[in-house]
Amino acid sequence: MAEAGRFALLSRLGIDPAVGTLVHAALDEAITTAEQRSPGAVAALDAGCGRVSALRAFRPRIGRFVGADIHEPSVPLPHLDEFAIVDLCVSADGFAERSFDVVLSSFTLEHFTDPTAALANLRRWIRPGGSLVITTVNRRHPFVAAYLGLPDGPRRRLQPLVKATTADAHPLVGACNDPAAIRAALGAAGFSGIRLTTVGHLARAWGRRWPTFALGLLGDLLTGAMPSRRSTIVVVARVPGEVA
Ligand SMILES: C[S@@+](CC[C@H](N)C(=O)[O-])C[C@H]1O[C@@H](n2cnc3c(N)ncnc32)[C@H](O)[C@@H]1O
Repeated sequence: MAEAGRFALLSRLGIDPAVGTLVHAALDEAITTAEQRSPGAVAALDAGCGRVSALRAFRPRIGRFVGADIHEPSVPLPHLDEFAIVDLCVSADGFAERSFDVVLSSFTLEHFTDPTAALANLRRWIRPGGSLVITTVNRRHPFVAAYLGLPDGPRRRLQPLVKATTADAHPLVGACNDPAAIRAALGAAGFSGIRLTTVGHLARAWGRRWPTFALGLLGDLLTGAMPSRRSTIVVVARVPGEVA
């Protein structure tokens, strides 16, 4: 069975909603709010953009679409208006204050060496009334904890098994990766209206091959009834202030 068939099996087993569905809904809401301020001129940043972006589906509604990552993209990113090399944990001046209405940072937090600094930077770059959407892994899931807890060497050897390419196997840190830590860090960075959801995402994330899909499915089923332990966290937070 190909990947699509495996993922259809997840829907049949009720392992839903998928992270992608939640992120799409969160971005739709954030962009709709931003459109009240700047119809046709919404500014969006994909922070740690890699190669794929959930913001791409909203391209017709985004006036300025910027991608930032710590290194050059491995493929062309024609959906972006601009790309910038920015270390989100370091470069407070990566963008001007209040540059963006919507920021997405998808599966990046677990890689940040200084999540506190990164969240403060994102907060600085978002306009009052603007939104941040984050997805990341949850250390409270036992498989995620085991994976993050592996010594660097064995983990680096395992990463290519669950990633599309070796280039996607980025160094993992996991310094701010459970629901309580994320809530606290977002609050400390000055975000409000924090809405945090957890979902079982391991079978999808590890679904490129049958053995890792099966392990992920077991992980999703084991924690399905324990929201604080599901593998993946989706958070929406706002920068206080009116969309003016
Ligand atoms: C797992 S990939 C996710 C890529 C993309 N956001 C997605 O959802 O497919 C993590 C991305 O975060 C980037 N990244 C990690 N640490 C970063 C940092 N300190 N500053 C900027 N980008 C960073 C990596 O280079 C990589 O592109």
